[in-house]
Amino acid sequence: MPPSENSRIDEQPLTQDQIDSFKANGYLVLPGFVADDVVAQWREQFWGYLGCTLDEPDKWPEKVEGFKPDPMFGDMPDLQAIAQQVGGGHFSGGGCGVAVRWPQKDADWTMPDSGHLDGYPGEGCQAVLMVGATTYLHDVESEGGCYVYWPASHHLAHRYFRHQPDRIEGTFRETPEWEARGWGIFSDGGPEPPRQFVARAGDVILWHGWLCHSGSTNVNPSPRVGFFARWVHADDAMVRESIPEDPWHHWAI
Ligand SMILES: [Fe+2]
Repeated sequence: MPPSENSRIDEQPLTQDQIDSFKANGYLVLPGFVADDVVAQWREQFWGYLGCTLDEPDKWPEKVEGFKPDPMFGDMPDLQAIAQQVGGGHFSGGGCGVAVRWPQKDADWTMPDSGHLDGYPGEGCQAVLMVGATTYLHDVESEGGCYVYWPASHHLAHRYFRHQPDRIEGTFRETPEWEARGWGIFSDGGPEPPRQFVARAGDVILWHGWLCHSGSTNVNPSPRVGFFARWVHADDAMVRESIPEDPWHHWAI
């Protein structure tokens, strides 16, 4: 029997409840998303690349450059299926950035004051980020270098750019309010204080491209090895042309 329209909808990777939660909060946690055997494979590749092990802190390098996991985190079919679902096939990206936060035993841990939006590395806007995903190679406890995010802050960014659409190009950094508040313009006054993504290896947090976020200091003994994947709209120039009233105009959810 051919699948009905309904069963095809059921086959989408995210349920309606998950979509609703993502839309309301700007993030969605997917526990155990990456299979254990894939995580194990990644660990072997990562530590093999560095030529040391998790138990040899004396041999850990200061920097990790050029490492790419196989399978590539953002190219995994399950994750691409989600990007396909939320973007209706119009989001392109994936890949894998690797960001390691080695332990800083002597540092004091504090919650970051403010975060940032991806897509603005220097002057101007590289691309308007639609959605990102983060996972860890090893379990990360509180104060262990977690990805930190401001829940529901994507609404603030939408409101800001809706009122000042030309600033999407990055000129929000040339304003008096930037002088006064910096990235806080996208997180101050949000509904909740910032939160750490405390998670097991292979858990995934899906985050809206306008969710204000930050790295954080790792004062725990275990390194925080983060994998990041990002998606932009295939027609990024069109996305930047105007900011629609409906924050989900360019999405399929
Ligand atoms: Fe970022």
